[in-house]
Amino acid sequence: MTAANARGLDPAADPASSAKRKIIIDCDPGIDDALAIFMALASDKLDVLGITTVAGNVNIDHVTRNALSLVSMTGKQIPVCRGATGPFLSTRKDGARVHGENGVGDVTLQVPAFEEDPRPATVFIREMADAHPGELDLVAIGPLTNIAAVLAMHSGLAKKIRRIIMMGGAAGFGNVTPAAEFNIYADPHAAAAVFQSGIPIDMYGLDVTNRALITKEEMADLRATGKAIPVLCCDMLGTYADFYESIGFSGLALHDPFAMACAIDESLAVFGEYFVAVETQGELTRGKTVVDTFGVSGKKPNTRVAIDLDREGFIAMMSDLLTSYE
Ligand code: BDR
Ligand code: CA
Repeated sequence: MTAANARGLDPAADPASSAKRKIIIDCDPGIDDALAIFMALASDKLDVLGITTVAGNVNIDHVTRNALSLVSMTGKQIPVCRGATGPFLSTRKDGARVHGENGVGDVTLQVPAFEEDPRPATVFIREMADAHPGELDLVAIGPLTNIAAVLAMHSGLAKKIRRIIMMGGAAGFGNVTPAAEFNIYADPHAAAAVFQSGIPIDMYGLDVTNRALITKEEMADLRATGKAIPVLCCDMLGTYADFYESIGFSGLALHDPFAMACAIDESLAVFGEYFVAVETQGELTRGKTVVDTFGVSGKKPNTRVAIDLDREGFIAMMSDLLTSYE
């Protein structure tokens, strides 16, 4: 699939596309976050500098421990830095209904093989942006509290971040309210600040991620490999499957893994270039990403919004990455 590129870059001609891209994963694992972490750590296209955690699907203690356990399972060791315990101004709402009480489908993960990094998430992001100006991508697959916080603390920082690859929002409907998607709803003020930051944003919202479905047959193929990581992924996806079945989906929507797949190869998506803002107040629409698809605001586009996807290509990439672990 050919991707229209909002910044006038042919992906093939993008100098960063041939080198390993430096990323930080800002996340709230989270069943689908877990798959995305495994994918990133298996990819030879990404240099994962570290993981920053944020309260979202479950509380900060659970998501941080989950991140440590997941990385440990890969046999790798990278910094895992604890982030925000909750949103800027709103009340915390979790996703335990979808992700289970421990965030990973109530599956027991292995005891972490290493300790969390003593640096807070915001310090780690700042240090990495300072160390790699213009080269760092933030893959944001949880609420945007950490990113908004670090941008608020350091005025020159936004210019050092190459782009934000975000799972969040939707041009269309929501999944946590009729209007809003979970990651944006969980901290709408943070999300609003991030969209206003001037950092180029690639938004993988529900418009595409609700179609990034894995079928039961494709899951059975993963399980049939008998390998520890794909089998764990299928175990975690159990709770998730119940949820998606209950709302009538024909498969499981792999939100964060699709964003990660596009961090690896953005040709899996097709984009429109739009101005996006976040509603922070509306009684019915709080947390909605308002996407100006008709250009009626007259405002310059600030976001590439993914509007279509190559589902089969995504599943093939994800399966290859997950089964690459022994
Ligand atoms: C997003 O919300 C979380 O529950 C998932 O991990 C994903 O990041 C989907 O709306
Ligand atoms: Ca997530």
